[in-house]
Amino acid sequence: MSEIVKAILQRRSIRNFKQEQIKDSELAVILEAGQFAPSARNEQSWHFTVIQNKDLLGKINEVLRTIFFNSGNPDFAERAKAENFSPFYHAPTLIIVSGNEKAIAPQHNGSLALGNLFLAAHALDIGSVWIHSLRSLFDIEEGRSLNRELGIPEGYSIVASGAFGYNAGEKPTPAPRKEGTITIIK
Ligand SMILES: Cc1cc2nc3c(=O)[nH]c(=O)nc-3n(C[C@H](O)[C@H](O)[C@H](O)COP(=O)(O)O)c2cc1C
Repeated sequence: MSEIVKAILQRRSIRNFKQEQIKDSELAVILEAGQFAPSARNEQSWHFTVIQNKDLLGKINEVLRTIFFNSGNPDFAERAKAENFSPFYHAPTLIIVSGNEKAIAPQHNGSLALGNLFLAAHALDIGSVWIHSLRSLFDIEEGRSLNRELGIPEGYSIVASGAFGYNAGEKPTPAPRKEGTITIIK
């Protein structure tokens, strides 16, 4: 089986990270893989914000705690009370993919780019997982005020984000894949 197909089949979402930071050389490969994702009309409408600064990671975590707490969802509100709350699993690296709101398909381009980041990370033995809640970061003023530090370009909004780091746990076994999701017409 080709290496790329093996990587696609073997990548799993990782939710338990070592605190040791990934190497800059590995990060560069991961980001290059993101930049080579397909994009509508080759607009490359993405921007990648890599956050490895512990203070900033902590501030993001506290904004998400407030959002979870006030979400109206009792499960989320309960999670927000935990002292070790971290919807990004204390990962040492977060990558926010934002998209140019004026592009044809910023969400699709950004999602494909994030998929490439995950596969490249897997190829380098680095764990990763999509973090959906980061999309809500700018829903409240405390979150919006972080944008100066995040440097998300004017006219871009967050489309997707991922946590990255070396896996500190067992490799999860894949959940069974659903039957009946394929139609082949010849
Ligand atoms: C759009 C999207 C949002 C997701 N959000 C989260 C998330 O917020 N937290 C999380 O732990 N996993 C998240 N995941 C990861 C999925 O739970 C995971 O991909 C799925 O369970 C299949 O497992 P696998 O990635 O190991 O194959 C998300 C995945 C996608 C595609």
